[in-house]
Amino acid sequence: MNFRQSAGLTILLAASAALAACGQQPSSSAAPAPTTSEMAPAATDAVADDVLPLMVVHKSPTCGCCELWVEHMRQAGFPVEVRNVQNVHPVKQRLGVPYGKGSCHTAEVDGYVIEGHVPAEDVKRLLAQRPDARGLVLPGMPLGSPGMEVPSGQTEPHTVELVTSDGSTEVFARH
Ligand code: CU
Ligand code: CU
Repeated sequence: MNFRQSAGLTILLAASAALAACGQQPSSSAAPAPTTSEMAPAATDAVADDVLPLMVVHKSPTCGCCELWVEHMRQAGFPVEVRNVQNVHPVKQRLGVPYGKGSCHTAEVDGYVIEGHVPAEDVKRLLAQRPDARGLVLPGMPLGSPGMEVPSGQTEPHTVELVTSDGSTEVFARH
């Protein structure tokens, strides 16, 4: 087995382990390969923690990584209401998550949809900037994103995308 094959196998194994941990497959496993980092948002570019709006999270009752993401959001200061549902796909459809951009859980906050393991800092920047858009998506479940940390500390590069009002997407943050 050459290096390329063995690297691919490692990624496959890591991805299937992550899926098993979550208990629910995302509707996409696209793996973007960004190479650059965005600059961190300025301190003034976020809303104050004491005025963070309620976040409603729709998830499967058996999803462990979803729970960890909820914990990440609470620690960042968001009040979170969890709604366990057997099937989150109708929620994704209602909120306009584009085809192929899905993950394991879907959240609503202040009129925006937040799909998948989006970092709290990105949600705060969205709420501060308030673009005319549907919200943010982080397709799949990239290793190392909030709620998807692994003991080895491995991180897959991942890109949070802004879903514009017409359903197209553009880069919002690279991690
Ligand atoms: Cu997940
Ligand atoms: Cu989840």
